[in-house]
Amino acid sequence: MTDRLKIERLYKVFADRPAAALDMLRRGASKADVLRETGQVVGLDDVSLSVPSGAMYMIMGLSGSGKSTLARCVNRLNEPSAGRILLDDEDLCSLGEAALREVRRKRISMVFQHFALLPNRRVIDNVEFGLKLRGVTPRERRRRAEEVLEVVGLARWAAKMPHELSGGMRQRVGLARALATDADILIMDEAFSALDPLIRAEMQDELLRLQRTLHKTILFITHDFQEALKLGTRIAIMSEGRLVREGTPQSIVLEPGSDYVAAFTRDVDRARLFDAASSMTALVPLVQGESWTVLGGASDGHAADRGPGFVVDAHARVLGTITAAQIDSVRDGAALPELDGAFSCVPSHAKLIDVAGRFGGAPAIGVIDETGRLVGRLEAGQVLARIGAGGANGVRHV
Ligand SMILES: Nc1ncnc2c1ncn2[C@@H]1O[C@H](COP(=O)(O)OP(=O)(O)O)[C@@H](O)[C@H]1O
Ligand SMILES: [Mg+2]
Repeated sequence: MTDRLKIERLYKVFADRPAAALDMLRRGASKADVLRETGQVVGLDDVSLSVPSGAMYMIMGLSGSGKSTLARCVNRLNEPSAGRILLDDEDLCSLGEAALREVRRKRISMVFQHFALLPNRRVIDNVEFGLKLRGVTPRERRRRAEEVLEVVGLARWAAKMPHELSGGMRQRVGLARALATDADILIMDEAFSALDPLIRAEMQDELLRLQRTLHKTILFITHDFQEALKLGTRIAIMSEGRLVREGTPQSIVLEPGSDYVAAFTRDVDRARLFDAASSMTALVPLVQGESWTVLGGASDGHAADRGPGFVVDAHARVLGTITAAQIDSVRDGAALPELDGAFSCVPSHAKLIDVAGRFGGAPAIGVIDETGRLVGRLEAGQVLARIGAGGANGVRHV
């Protein structure tokens, strides 16, 4: 996947003359040190990250950690003190006024906490508004606005005024307006944070649903770790202006890397977060026949104490299972015994909460990819270990 946005060693010190502060930061001083010595406030301290095209990239951290500063640096509402910001490989920091205005108008779309609608314009005009600013022709504007209103389920409300809609519907109009622009990147700064929990969950679902068809590149800022887990394809966690952890939701919960991050992960519902792929054992060929292969645990070649083997055909599709003892006999030259057909397989992306009930007494189940090929084996104990892992799990002090 190509990177749409790349941030390289970005610093922001809120000061006209940041040189001394930058020097301190580069030698490892903290935000507090800089404030004490120079009286200057550090917004960002050596932040680097890459946002792949089509990602829902979350910036998460406590209030004051630098999330908004980062977002505002991307379109230079905040002028970075040092570093590079590459949008499709073009360094935004080197742009002059005119070019910058063009980028803000056409390529970066910002959404703030309130999707403020224009109260005296119809719903459709509100959706068209952003496109109008971008210089899109009236015909094209109308076509695209109708399209996104259809997508968010508000086509019938196009001619209504905002006050005729419920609060939740108005939020959806705001979301439609943001999504209607074909900006290269959409920046949403705490866009859902002010909403009631119910409407908020609804908007999150709506955004996920829309994203499945639109594949926008979104930089989504939130102080809510649960929201980051739910929406994010990747999460960057900030503290005191620094990026302290970056990765997929599953990898961050699995290995927080510091107490600061671990504190966020403590209450996470692991059964709903982790998928089969995250917990399975990879399989290796143990015995090979002409049209079949027996696959078993990868950690060593001895199948005897390693649970059942999966017998697959030439396309890696499961034919059945055999016991560890049978694997040994086949390896010693015996013919392939009658296969046990009472095995279960789950998709690699299935969440553990949905996997747990599929064992039916069997010691292990198969994990298959979207084309039906066997990619791993999951033992009941592995599922329990992952679901039951306590808050301190995986913390490494760095
Ligand atoms: N314009 C500004 N002038 C001085 N300090 C600022 C300014 N904007 C933000 N800050 C400071 O930068 C730090 C990061 O703020 P911000 O990016 O708004 O945090 P977040 O969005 O994570 O809550 C805070 O210490 C804040 O006080
Ligand atoms: Mg903020």
